[in-house]
Amino acid sequence: MFHDMDDLESNLFQCTQCALHNNSNHGPTSYNGSPDSPLTIVGEGPGGVEDEYGVPLIGPSGQLLDKALMSVNITRDHVFTTNIIKCRPKGNRTPTIEEANFCANNWLDAELALVAPKVIIALGSVALKYLDNPGARITKDRGKWFNTKYNIPAIATYHPAYLLRLTGKQLVKAKWEVYYDFQAALAKCQELVPDYKFKSDVVPNLLELYQFRKTERFTNKENA
Ligand code: URA
Repeated sequence: MFHDMDDLESNLFQCTQCALHNNSNHGPTSYNGSPDSPLTIVGEGPGGVEDEYGVPLIGPSGQLLDKALMSVNITRDHVFTTNIIKCRPKGNRTPTIEEANFCANNWLDAELALVAPKVIIALGSVALKYLDNPGARITKDRGKWFNTKYNIPAIATYHPAYLLRLTGKQLVKAKWEVYYDFQAALAKCQELVPDYKFKSDVVPNLLELYQFRKTERFTNKENA
């Protein structure tokens, strides 16, 4: 359907196919990291910072994701990161299953067909329900492998936004669970692609890296 990720991304940035487009301030967000990576991380949908930058998981949840990945020696430039839905729902509410299905059928499925990762990590309930089944529950099903419709193995873990809401013992427990889930995903990738390098010496600063896109999006909005 699309020739490559650039082709997909330029079409994605023009998308006005559903009502969520009207709610986001700056239009659809796309992906970041390496489309050549064996590991794809699928989040839920953009928050305020992501809406400004056009890039998934770079705000507070993304910063925590960076730290969690670093604990297993992964930097974001060596994984592919994307979201189920591409536009920020009004008030940052959780997208409905229908909204998630509509957007992911249009975009995520095409992204994953091009990227063809070996392993997928589903971050949180919305990604788990889309990638596994609508009856799946993050509290019950995290840390368990399942097969996706793409025939790519996936494992779900808690969304960083959930960790940001926890405190005390609950937080410590959930952080360890995320650590073990990331370790399991990494181990499977390493088994399937033993030579792939998952970590850069210099940890990328995604806000700096994508400042140009934020400027572009604000300029486009002013000129609209
Ligand atoms: N939460 C997500 O799942 N994705 C983002 O891009 C930001 C917050």
